[in-house]
Amino acid sequence: MTDSLPDNVEFINPRAEHGFKGRTCSIVSVGSYVPEKRLTNADLEKMVETSDEWITSRTGIKERRIASPEQFTSDLATEAARSAMEKAGIKGEEIDLIIVATITPDMPFPSTACLVQSNIGAVNAAAFDLEAACSGFVYALEIAQQFIMSRTYDTVLVIGAEKLSSIIDWKDRNTCVLFGDGAGAAILQNREQSHGLLTACMGADGGKAGLLSMPGGGSRCPATGDSVDQRLHYLRMDGKETFKSAVTAMYKAAQKALERCQLDISQIKCIIPHQANLRIMSAVGDRLGAKEDQIFINVDKFGNTSAASVAIALDQVVEEGRIQRGDLILLVVFGAGLTWGAAVIEW
Ligand SMILES: CC(C)(COP(=O)(O)OP(=O)(O)OC[C@H]1O[C@@H](n2cnc3c(N)ncnc32)[C@H](O)[C@@H]1OP(=O)(O)O)[C@@H](O)C(=O)NCCC(=O)NCCS
Repeated sequence: MTDSLPDNVEFINPRAEHGFKGRTCSIVSVGSYVPEKRLTNADLEKMVETSDEWITSRTGIKERRIASPEQFTSDLATEAARSAMEKAGIKGEEIDLIIVATITPDMPFPSTACLVQSNIGAVNAAAFDLEAACSGFVYALEIAQQFIMSRTYDTVLVIGAEKLSSIIDWKDRNTCVLFGDGAGAAILQNREQSHGLLTACMGADGGKAGLLSMPGGGSRCPATGDSVDQRLHYLRMDGKETFKSAVTAMYKAAQKALERCQLDISQIKCIIPHQANLRIMSAVGDRLGAKEDQIFINVDKFGNTSAASVAIALDQVVEEGRIQRGDLILLVVFGAGLTWGAAVIEW
C-alpha cells in the first residue's frame, strides 16, 4: 500500500477480511483504442431527424468513433490489448487468461477472446467472452482478480470491446445518436505491491431485461428474412425507464462499494461512471455528494461504448496524469440485463 492511501483502507480491505491476505493482485497497466472515424452530431443531422442541440442537451454527446467495415470487435480489442501489454512489458505467452467483455462479438462463436488470443500470440492462455453489457468491464475485472487470488492464474488480460455500430438501427433516432465503437484493456497480475481492486460489487435484475435488448439472432429468434424485416437484429431501448434504473442502480452500487471499504466519497480522487449520458452521470454524482471535478467525463467524444466505456476512460485518466499511484478510483457501471456494478481501485 502506498503512502497516499487513507490510513484506514488497508485494515478494512474486504479482501483481507476474507482470508486473501498474502496474495495480492495489481492492475499493472491499462490501454485503449478507438477507431479513427468520427461521427459528429452534424453528420447525424443528415441521417435522421435530430439536431446537435437535442443530442447535446439530452446526452452530452458531441461525437463518437465508428469502426471501418473491415474492423471488427476483435481488432479493436487486439489494439487495446497490445497497448496495455506494451506498457506492462508483457509478452503474449506470459498471459494465462483472456476475458473479453462484449455484447458485439465478431460472431456468436468462437469467442472474441479466442480471436484476440491468436492475434497477440497468447499461446498459453485460456480465453472466454463475458456478457454483462455495459457493466462487463467491472464484472471482468472482478473475475480476473478472483482467478489471481485463488492462485489459478498469475497474469490475466481483461478487455472491454465493442463495435456497437454493427447493431445500431441507423434509422432509429432514439438510439443511433447514443453509441460508439472502441476498446479498453487492463493487465492484472499477482505482484507483491498491490495496486488493484479493493472491492467490487455486482448486481443484476433480469426482470427488466426488456428495457434494453437485441431480440434477434439468438435461440429465441434465429435470423430469418422475417426477423430481418422486423429489424429485430438491432439494439432496442426504452430510454426513459433505462435512465431511471441507471441512476438508482449506479448510486446504490457505488454506495455499497464505498461502504465496504469504509470510504467517504471525498476520499475518492476520480469517479469514472459508465459514459452513457451526461445527465445520468451528474445525477449519480449529485446523489453521492461528489464534487464536479471528481467525475471524469469523455462521453462528449466517444458516446456510449458499452463494455469499453470505463476501460477507455481509465486509460485516459492515467495517460493524462489525472491520477497517481496510490490514488483511489471509483468505477460505477450500468447496462442491459439489467446489470450494474461498482469497484474501488487503489491505483
Ligand atoms: C434516450 C434519452 C437521451 C432520451 O432523453 P429523454 O429526456 O428521456 O427524452 P424525452 O423522452 O424527454 O424526449 C423524447 C422525445 O424526443 C424525441 N427524440 C428521441 N431521440 C431524438 C433525437 N435523437 N433527436 C431529436 N428528438 C429525439 C422522441 O421521439 C420523443 O419525441 P416525442 O415526445 O414527440 O415522442 C434518455 O432517455 C436516456 O439517455 N436514456 C438512457 C439511455 C442509456 O443510457 N442507455 C444505455 C444504458 S447502458
